[in-house]
Amino acid sequence: MVRRKLTALALLLGIAAGTAHAQPLPEEGADIHQGVASCATSVCHGKVSADPESNVWLNEYRVWLRQDYHSRAYRTLQTAQSQAIADKLGLPSAQGAKICLDCHADNVPADSRGRRFQISDGVGCEACHGGGGRWLESHAETTTSHADNIAQGMYPTEDPMARARLCLSCHLGTRDKFATHEIMGAGHPRLAFELETFTVNQPAHYEADADYRERKPYIASVNMWLAGLAVTGMHTLELLQEEWFTQPSLVPELSFFQCHACHHPMDDLRWSQEPDRLPPGTARLNDASLVLLLAVLETLSPGDVAGLRSDLNALHQASLQSRERVVSAARALHARLEPLVDQLSKGEYGPEQQRQLRRELLAQSAAERFRHFTAAEQAFLAVETLSLSLGDAERLKPRLDALYASVEDENRFVPQQFAVLARQLMGAL
Ligand code: HEC
Ligand code: HEC
Ligand code: HEC
Ligand code: HEC
Repeated sequence: MVRRKLTALALLLGIAAGTAHAQPLPEEGADIHQGVASCATSVCHGKVSADPESNVWLNEYRVWLRQDYHSRAYRTLQTAQSQAIADKLGLPSAQGAKICLDCHADNVPADSRGRRFQISDGVGCEACHGGGGRWLESHAETTTSHADNIAQGMYPTEDPMARARLCLSCHLGTRDKFATHEIMGAGHPRLAFELETFTVNQPAHYEADADYRERKPYIASVNMWLAGLAVTGMHTLELLQEEWFTQPSLVPELSFFQCHACHHPMDDLRWSQEPDRLPPGTARLNDASLVLLLAVLETLSPGDVAGLRSDLNALHQASLQSRERVVSAARALHARLEPLVDQLSKGEYGPEQQRQLRRELLAQSAAERFRHFTAAEQAFLAVETLSLSLGDAERLKPRLDALYASVEDENRFVPQQFAVLARQLMGAL
């Protein structure tokens, strides 16, 4: 299970999100990556503490270096655990392997690396903010706007959809870098991601205060959560259409499936008939983000649910038939979701709607609709986000903690127990 949120997000305002989905990811752009050293001097982002005179903190480097897991991502490749993974995969070393560096560092090609670039910086500033080649000099001038920076290749991290794509490029993977079941089998942790929780859990090196909002939109936690869910669902369906999933081999790429469908003790019989009517003993595609999206749409856009549900069932049925059918079913569901996605992340959700969303998620949890661990995990994180946003997380703490305890250890997850605890939480609302 992923860590829970560390802090509560209190404010809930409307949003006006930008539109920059087509922006290439930092790793894809042609801009030179100048290296963390170019950002970290004491006149730039390397101050000891936040500068009250400046609109940005200017101690971002310190926060990143001392508190942010991204600054240790390269060092992680030098640990015994990483070496053991590399040994099992037949790689000479983890810190020398492209597949590991692609997610644990800013592994851009040699001709995109500036003079001060160091691979050992791990996931540095430009791995998220984009190569600084064209904006490093100009972005510090008072006359430069954020739009100017974006035009010069800065990545729009403030936009929820673009941010989701960025984080997921490493926290789920892309067609070019992916934590396959072979890598998992060698001992890599399962990748779990939820945009709002991970945004909060990444130690903040910025604050969405008044002057921030003059420059950038403020995104409410509910919108961040929905953007993440939508992009994860779409991205999963895109990955399912990739060539390496369709390659013929006796066993397909297993990391697309529910890990715990296979990885649980044999005397713990947990199969039961689900709406898609997959027979016992089927390896089930991991549809966590999609079933959560369906639950959300049940409240926000009920007219779309029947069609989506039937497309999702078709995807599961296709997984029993052939890879070609999986690809076309994934494409069909993707096409049906696409028009809804932007809308979801940009909507304004008042307290009443948030309560309805939470109630629906808990009702579906109680009805054992999230029987698979990855879905239950997402359902918990969603309920927590909504409770923090609604301001009653403190009052509900004992029940929220109990629900969390049931998903904390994926190896001890019992679907029926999760359902009972969800019902109890619903009773306490
Ligand atoms: C270039 C790849 C990459 C990108 C992009 C990326 N991450 Fe990460 N992230 C990692 C790696 C690798 C780790 C694990 C680092 C370690 O522990 O050594 C990590 C760890 C984390 C953690 C700590 C995980 C934990 O156990 O709690 C959080 C939180 C996180 N990332 C959030 C984000 C968010 C939010 C974004 C998008 C704004 C993002 N990441 C973008 C690669 C990336
Ligand atoms: C698709 C991106 C991706 C690839 C490829 C990848 N990793 Fe990771 N790795 C991550 C992310 C993201 C995390 C953090 C997961 C979390 O905490 O949510 C992580 C976590 C880890 C951890 C656990 C760190 C900790 O402190 O718990 C180790 C060890 C690790 N990776 C080693 C490797 C090695 C070795 C390779 C190459 C064989 C590799 N990784 C390839 C993305 C990736
Ligand atoms: C894992 C991704 C990630 C990494 C690594 C990262 N940032 Fe950020 N950064 C973000 C996100 C997300 C935001 C908030 C959204 C926004 O304002 O664009 C942000 C915001 C900022 C802001 C605030 C901008 C404002 O308008 O107030 C600055 C400045 C900044 N980052 C600098 C840095 C520096 C310097 C580093 C390296 C030491 C760094 N960032 C590393 C993701 C990252
Ligand atoms: C269709 C069944 C299936 C699915 C789905 C599946 N695995 Fe596996 N997994 C296996 C098999 C088979 C092995 C090999 C077991 C062995 O070598 O003893 C394995 C091995 C592993 C191992 C190494 C275990 C060991 O004892 O060395 C890990 C870790 C692992 N899988 C994680 C995952 C994760 C994470 C997922 C989901 C992203 C997943 N698996 C999905 C069948 C599956």
